[in-house]
Amino acid sequence: MADIFGQLNQIRAEIQSAAPGSPAELEQFRIQYLGSKNILKGLFAEMKNVPNERKKEFGQIMNELKDSAEAKFALLKEKFEADADSGAGENIDLFAPGEPMQIGSIHPISMVMNKIIGIFERIGFTVVDGPEIETDWYNFTAMNTPEDHPARDMQDTFYLKGGMEWLLRTHTSPVQARIMEGGNLPIRIIAPGRVYRNETISTRSHCQFHQIEGLYIDENVSFADLKQTLFYFAKEMFGASEIRLRPSFFPFTEPSAEMDIWLGTDTEKNYRLTKGTGWLEILGCGMVDPKVLENCGIDAERYTGFAFGMGIERQALRLFEIGDIRLLFENDVRFLSQFKGAI
Ligand code: PHE
Repeated sequence: MADIFGQLNQIRAEIQSAAPGSPAELEQFRIQYLGSKNILKGLFAEMKNVPNERKKEFGQIMNELKDSAEAKFALLKEKFEADADSGAGENIDLFAPGEPMQIGSIHPISMVMNKIIGIFERIGFTVVDGPEIETDWYNFTAMNTPEDHPARDMQDTFYLKGGMEWLLRTHTSPVQARIMEGGNLPIRIIAPGRVYRNETISTRSHCQFHQIEGLYIDENVSFADLKQTLFYFAKEMFGASEIRLRPSFFPFTEPSAEMDIWLGTDTEKNYRLTKGTGWLEILGCGMVDPKVLENCGIDAERYTGFAFGMGIERQALRLFEIGDIRLLFENDVRFLSQFKGAI
């Protein structure tokens, strides 16, 4: 009987002095004092030999031993895990080359946008932003496209729930109306952004794409200013030597035109791009219709202006010689990384 309390004292001393130095040694410690067949469990069988008046003391000592083994185990386990995280104790080669890191690249659409923005910023245009969820007023009515106007058919609109009031903008032109309404003249802005058209009918089309809008309003702005500005842009952007303005129609400009740049037909690629004509269509433009100025609270007797709008995707296809527009939207990094630093 005295023997068993002596054994307990010995185990207490063992637990206190145990110093597992590695995770493997700690596991040994756990098996010995806390495992399913640990030493303490074996001693419980001796309980029946302990006189009744010392049974309580026996139980207390057993609990105390178990607690101290558990506490030591928990402490050392935490220490070894922290060491493993910090790499301490391992052989570290400080001269080993680092893991290579994949660095992303700018999307070709953003590259083209940034290039266009840069060209216009150099001549005093400022970038502005507008909402993609628009009202009928800004997208159509303010832009001189009333409800029964046939031009609404030109742009198949995604309407949002609850009627015809809210829609996804079909072009960046509503930004014109929003800026004009602000009334800070003169205005010289470009508005890049995403636009939406319901073109599910045509398999080759996409329901969302990007445009950049330009707007310049001041006293005495003329068609000659429009032409010169666009020629500067065509030279900077495409290295074009010549542009041509073909009469066209947009509800918000009068007169309206489409701008082509001269590529010629010398190369097979240019022949294909221009369908044998040598001219490539780039954008729509015109003098802001006085009705639009009035809709937005600008005195059309005093002010005139020009506006232009162009799609981005087609220009990216041309600049980077990409064969299929869908590649621009699939976001396959093997494709996208090819354009790193291209322009
Ligand atoms: N908003 C027209 C379109 O989407 C482009 C345009 C903008 C034309 C500004 C003239 C002036 O086709």
